[in-house]
Amino acid sequence: MQSKRDKLLSFLKESKGIWVSGEWLSGELGISRAAINKHIHQLRNIGYPIETSTRKGYCLGQFPDLLVAEEIREGLGTRVFGVRDIMSLDETDSTNLRAKDLAAGGAPEGTIVVAGTQTEGRGRKGRTWFSPSGGGVYISLILRPLLAPSEAPRITLMTGVAAAEAIISLTRLDARIKWPNDILVRGKKIAGILTEISTEMDRIDYVVVGVGLNVNIQRESLAEGLRERATSILMETGESFSRVGLLKAFLKHFERYYKILQDKGFEPIRNRWKELSDNIGQRVSVELIGDVRTGRVVDIDPDGLLILEDDQGSIQRIASGDVTLL
Ligand code: BTN
Repeated sequence: MQSKRDKLLSFLKESKGIWVSGEWLSGELGISRAAINKHIHQLRNIGYPIETSTRKGYCLGQFPDLLVAEEIREGLGTRVFGVRDIMSLDETDSTNLRAKDLAAGGAPEGTIVVAGTQTEGRGRKGRTWFSPSGGGVYISLILRPLLAPSEAPRITLMTGVAAAEAIISLTRLDARIKWPNDILVRGKKIAGILTEISTEMDRIDYVVVGVGLNVNIQRESLAEGLRERATSILMETGESFSRVGLLKAFLKHFERYYKILQDKGFEPIRNRWKELSDNIGQRVSVELIGDVRTGRVVDIDPDGLLILEDDQGSIQRIASGDVTLL
C-alpha cells in the first residue's frame, strides 16, 4: 500500500513542472494542509526540488537521479528485495559494513543498503572499491538462504548473472562474467561483487552481497593504475545512465534468479553463468594464496568451483582465487 507521502509524490510527479494547489492535494489525500506541509518538507529533505507558494501551492521541478527509497520502489514490482527495508545513505563507509550491522541486529531478508558514495568501499582480498559520488551504484543486500555454508559460492555466481543481465538489458553492452565474480566489458571490469557470510554451526545465518556497478564514472577520474583494468557504462557507451534505473533492473534480475535458486536449484543458474562467461575453454592463470596455477578452464562444478586442467594435465577444483586470462 502506498503511504500518503508516496501518493503525494505521485501526484506531484504526474504534474511535474506544474503547480498543484494545497487544497486539492488535501482533498485528494484526505489529510490536513499541515500534514501536506510536513510531507513536502520531508520530501525536500530527501532531495526532491519542490517549490512552494502560498498562492499557487506546490511544484516539483526536474530532479536528478536520486537513489532514495521512493525512487527505488516506484514500479519495481519485486516481492522481497527493495520492498520494505531500504537504507539509503548519501555517504557511508561501506554498504557491506552497514548491511552486516543490520543483519547482525536481525534485519530480514530483502533489506538493502545503498549509498551515493563510500569512503571505505571494500573489494575482495582487502582491496578498496573506488566509489565516487554519483558515479556508481553501491548496494548491499541481506539474504537468509536455507543453504549450507559450503553452498554460499552459488550466491556469488547468481549475483554475477543478475548484474550482467541488468547491464545487458539496459545498455546492450556485451557484459561477460569472469570467475568468480567480476563483470567485464571488453576485458575491463565494470562491476564487482563482495559476498560476506555469517555462519552458525553448519548453517548460514546471513549473507551480505555487495555489488559495485561503475555507471557514470569518467575515465579521467580513474586513478592511473585503474585505467587499464576498469571501465564504466559511460566510458563504454558515451552516455550517462540513470543509477536508480540500473539498480532497479539489478534488483529485478536478482530476485528472479534467487527464486530460481530456491525453487529449482543451482543448475539453471550455472547454465546461464556459463553462457554469460567466456572463461570455459580459456587459458588462464589463477593466483591462489602463495601459489599460481596455469591451465585451461574446463568447467564450473555444481557448487560453483572452477575446474582447471593445469599444465601438468591434472584437474584442480578451485574455490577461490584471482583469474587472469592469458
Ligand atoms: C571486488 O570486485 O573486489 C568486489 C567489489 C565490491 C564492491 C561493492 S560496492 C557495494 C559494496 N560495499 C562495499 O564496501 N563493497 C561492495
